[in-house]
Amino acid sequence: MAAVLIIDDNEAVRRALELVYSLHDIETVSAGSPAEGLALMEASDVDLVVQDMNFTTDTTSGEEGIALFRALRERDADLPIILLTAWTHLETAVQLVKAGAADYLAKPWDDAKLIIASKNLLELRASLRAQQRMAASRRAARERLAREHDLCGVIYESDAMHELLMVATRIAHADVPVLVTGPNGVGKEKVAEIVQANSAVRGGPFVKVNVGALPAELMESELFGTEAGAFTGATQARAGRFEAADGGTLFLDEIGNLPLNGQAKLLRVLQTGEFERLGSTRTRRVRVRVISATNTDLPVGIRQGLFREDLYYRLNVITLAVPPLASRPEDVLPLAEHFLGDGHLLAEDARAALVAHAWPGNVRELRNTIQRAGLLAPERTIRREDLGLPAASAARHEVANEPDATAIRAALTAHGGVVAHAARALGMSRQALYRRIDKLGVK
Ligand SMILES: Nc1ncnc2c1ncn2[C@@H]1O[C@H](COP(=O)(O)OP(=O)(O)OP(=O)(O)O)[C@@H](O)[C@H]1O
Ligand SMILES: [Mg+2]
Repeated sequence: MAAVLIIDDNEAVRRALELVYSLHDIETVSAGSPAEGLALMEASDVDLVVQDMNFTTDTTSGEEGIALFRALRERDADLPIILLTAWTHLETAVQLVKAGAADYLAKPWDDAKLIIASKNLLELRASLRAQQRMAASRRAARERLAREHDLCGVIYESDAMHELLMVATRIAHADVPVLVTGPNGVGKEKVAEIVQANSAVRGGPFVKVNVGALPAELMESELFGTEAGAFTGATQARAGRFEAADGGTLFLDEIGNLPLNGQAKLLRVLQTGEFERLGSTRTRRVRVRVISATNTDLPVGIRQGLFREDLYYRLNVITLAVPPLASRPEDVLPLAEHFLGDGHLLAEDARAALVAHAWPGNVRELRNTIQRAGLLAPERTIRREDLGLPAASAARHEVANEPDATAIRAALTAHGGVVAHAARALGMSRQALYRRIDKLGVK
């Protein structure tokens, strides 16, 4: 419940303020001195302070008021404060109010103005509290996920990645094929590693095959093995990757590149666990968990007759679609800092440029950008020009002095919810950011 703490040495003033608030159903507690006020503030649930500037009858300097203001803010950096000030202290009051979440009213005050100012600040306080509660529960959910699973060092902050990892870890145990989709460099292999690391067969072999890396003729022998003399040059019998992965996991990267012949054989292993080495009639049997990945649109391949529909449905019992980095800007700075390591820092303009860039090459592009900057930057602190990002994307952020909800959320997340820091990163005042947060309904 919202409560206003009134701190004024004049009893008549306290009574008058209490009355105004009670007429608007706002609870109050009152103190006659700064010391009493601070004690009350710590003991009760205060959402707004209305304070005088002088507390001893013979002082008019306002210094006691300034000291009280600072002491309150020291205990609670976001506590809204209204200063009741004589005209002689207007200048001081204006200065203090610049520190955010504060307002001032000249004595004698206007009741209507007092109530409007109070309600505004109480609303601000409530939305800030709600934000902090949400941030805390998000943090707790992330900590739980990381505590209960092996996340293979994945770095993320976004809700989109959190949801994806929740699903990935939940289905990891099941003995079903998983298809990981997403554009280049987005982290598909990372997600495959996480599924493997949390699977029932995590103790078994983990074999990775890049299906796009070998010519079609060699791919089949790579996957299924060869008998000696199966083809020219095959002088020795050789086990394929399916055999190597028996009892564990086979990661088939760039599955969209598998030729139709290989697709037919793959389908059979997936259905029956059976296959033959090339040039052999002996049927072998394996138990392999298959995770495949693709950055192509397999349904398009199906329509073009390049990919078997039945194989597609076999592979994608579970699909994990990794979202492009541009759609999860909250992840950019945590990833950048991770790739940067301890030796370097990112200047504010570099941070802004990183968040604004579109990242067509996703996390891999970000990693390369950061590593290059780390090598080439002349100073410990990396500036925007050290990143070598196209000017257009850096400019996008500057024109966008009116950041959108996504940019605000990213900035808040990147700064642990501290509005003052987020505002600085966005190049705007704290008040302007609050207004924007309200207007856009950012949670
Ligand atoms: N969330 C993340 N946290 C930490 N590292 C990541 C994350 N996402 C990706 N990486 C790293 O970025 C690089 C690219 O990721 P990965 O190889 O998994 O992408 P991919 O989607 O498989 O790419 P491609 O389409 O080129 O095969 C890797 O070094 C990977 O470890
Ligand atoms: Mg990959």
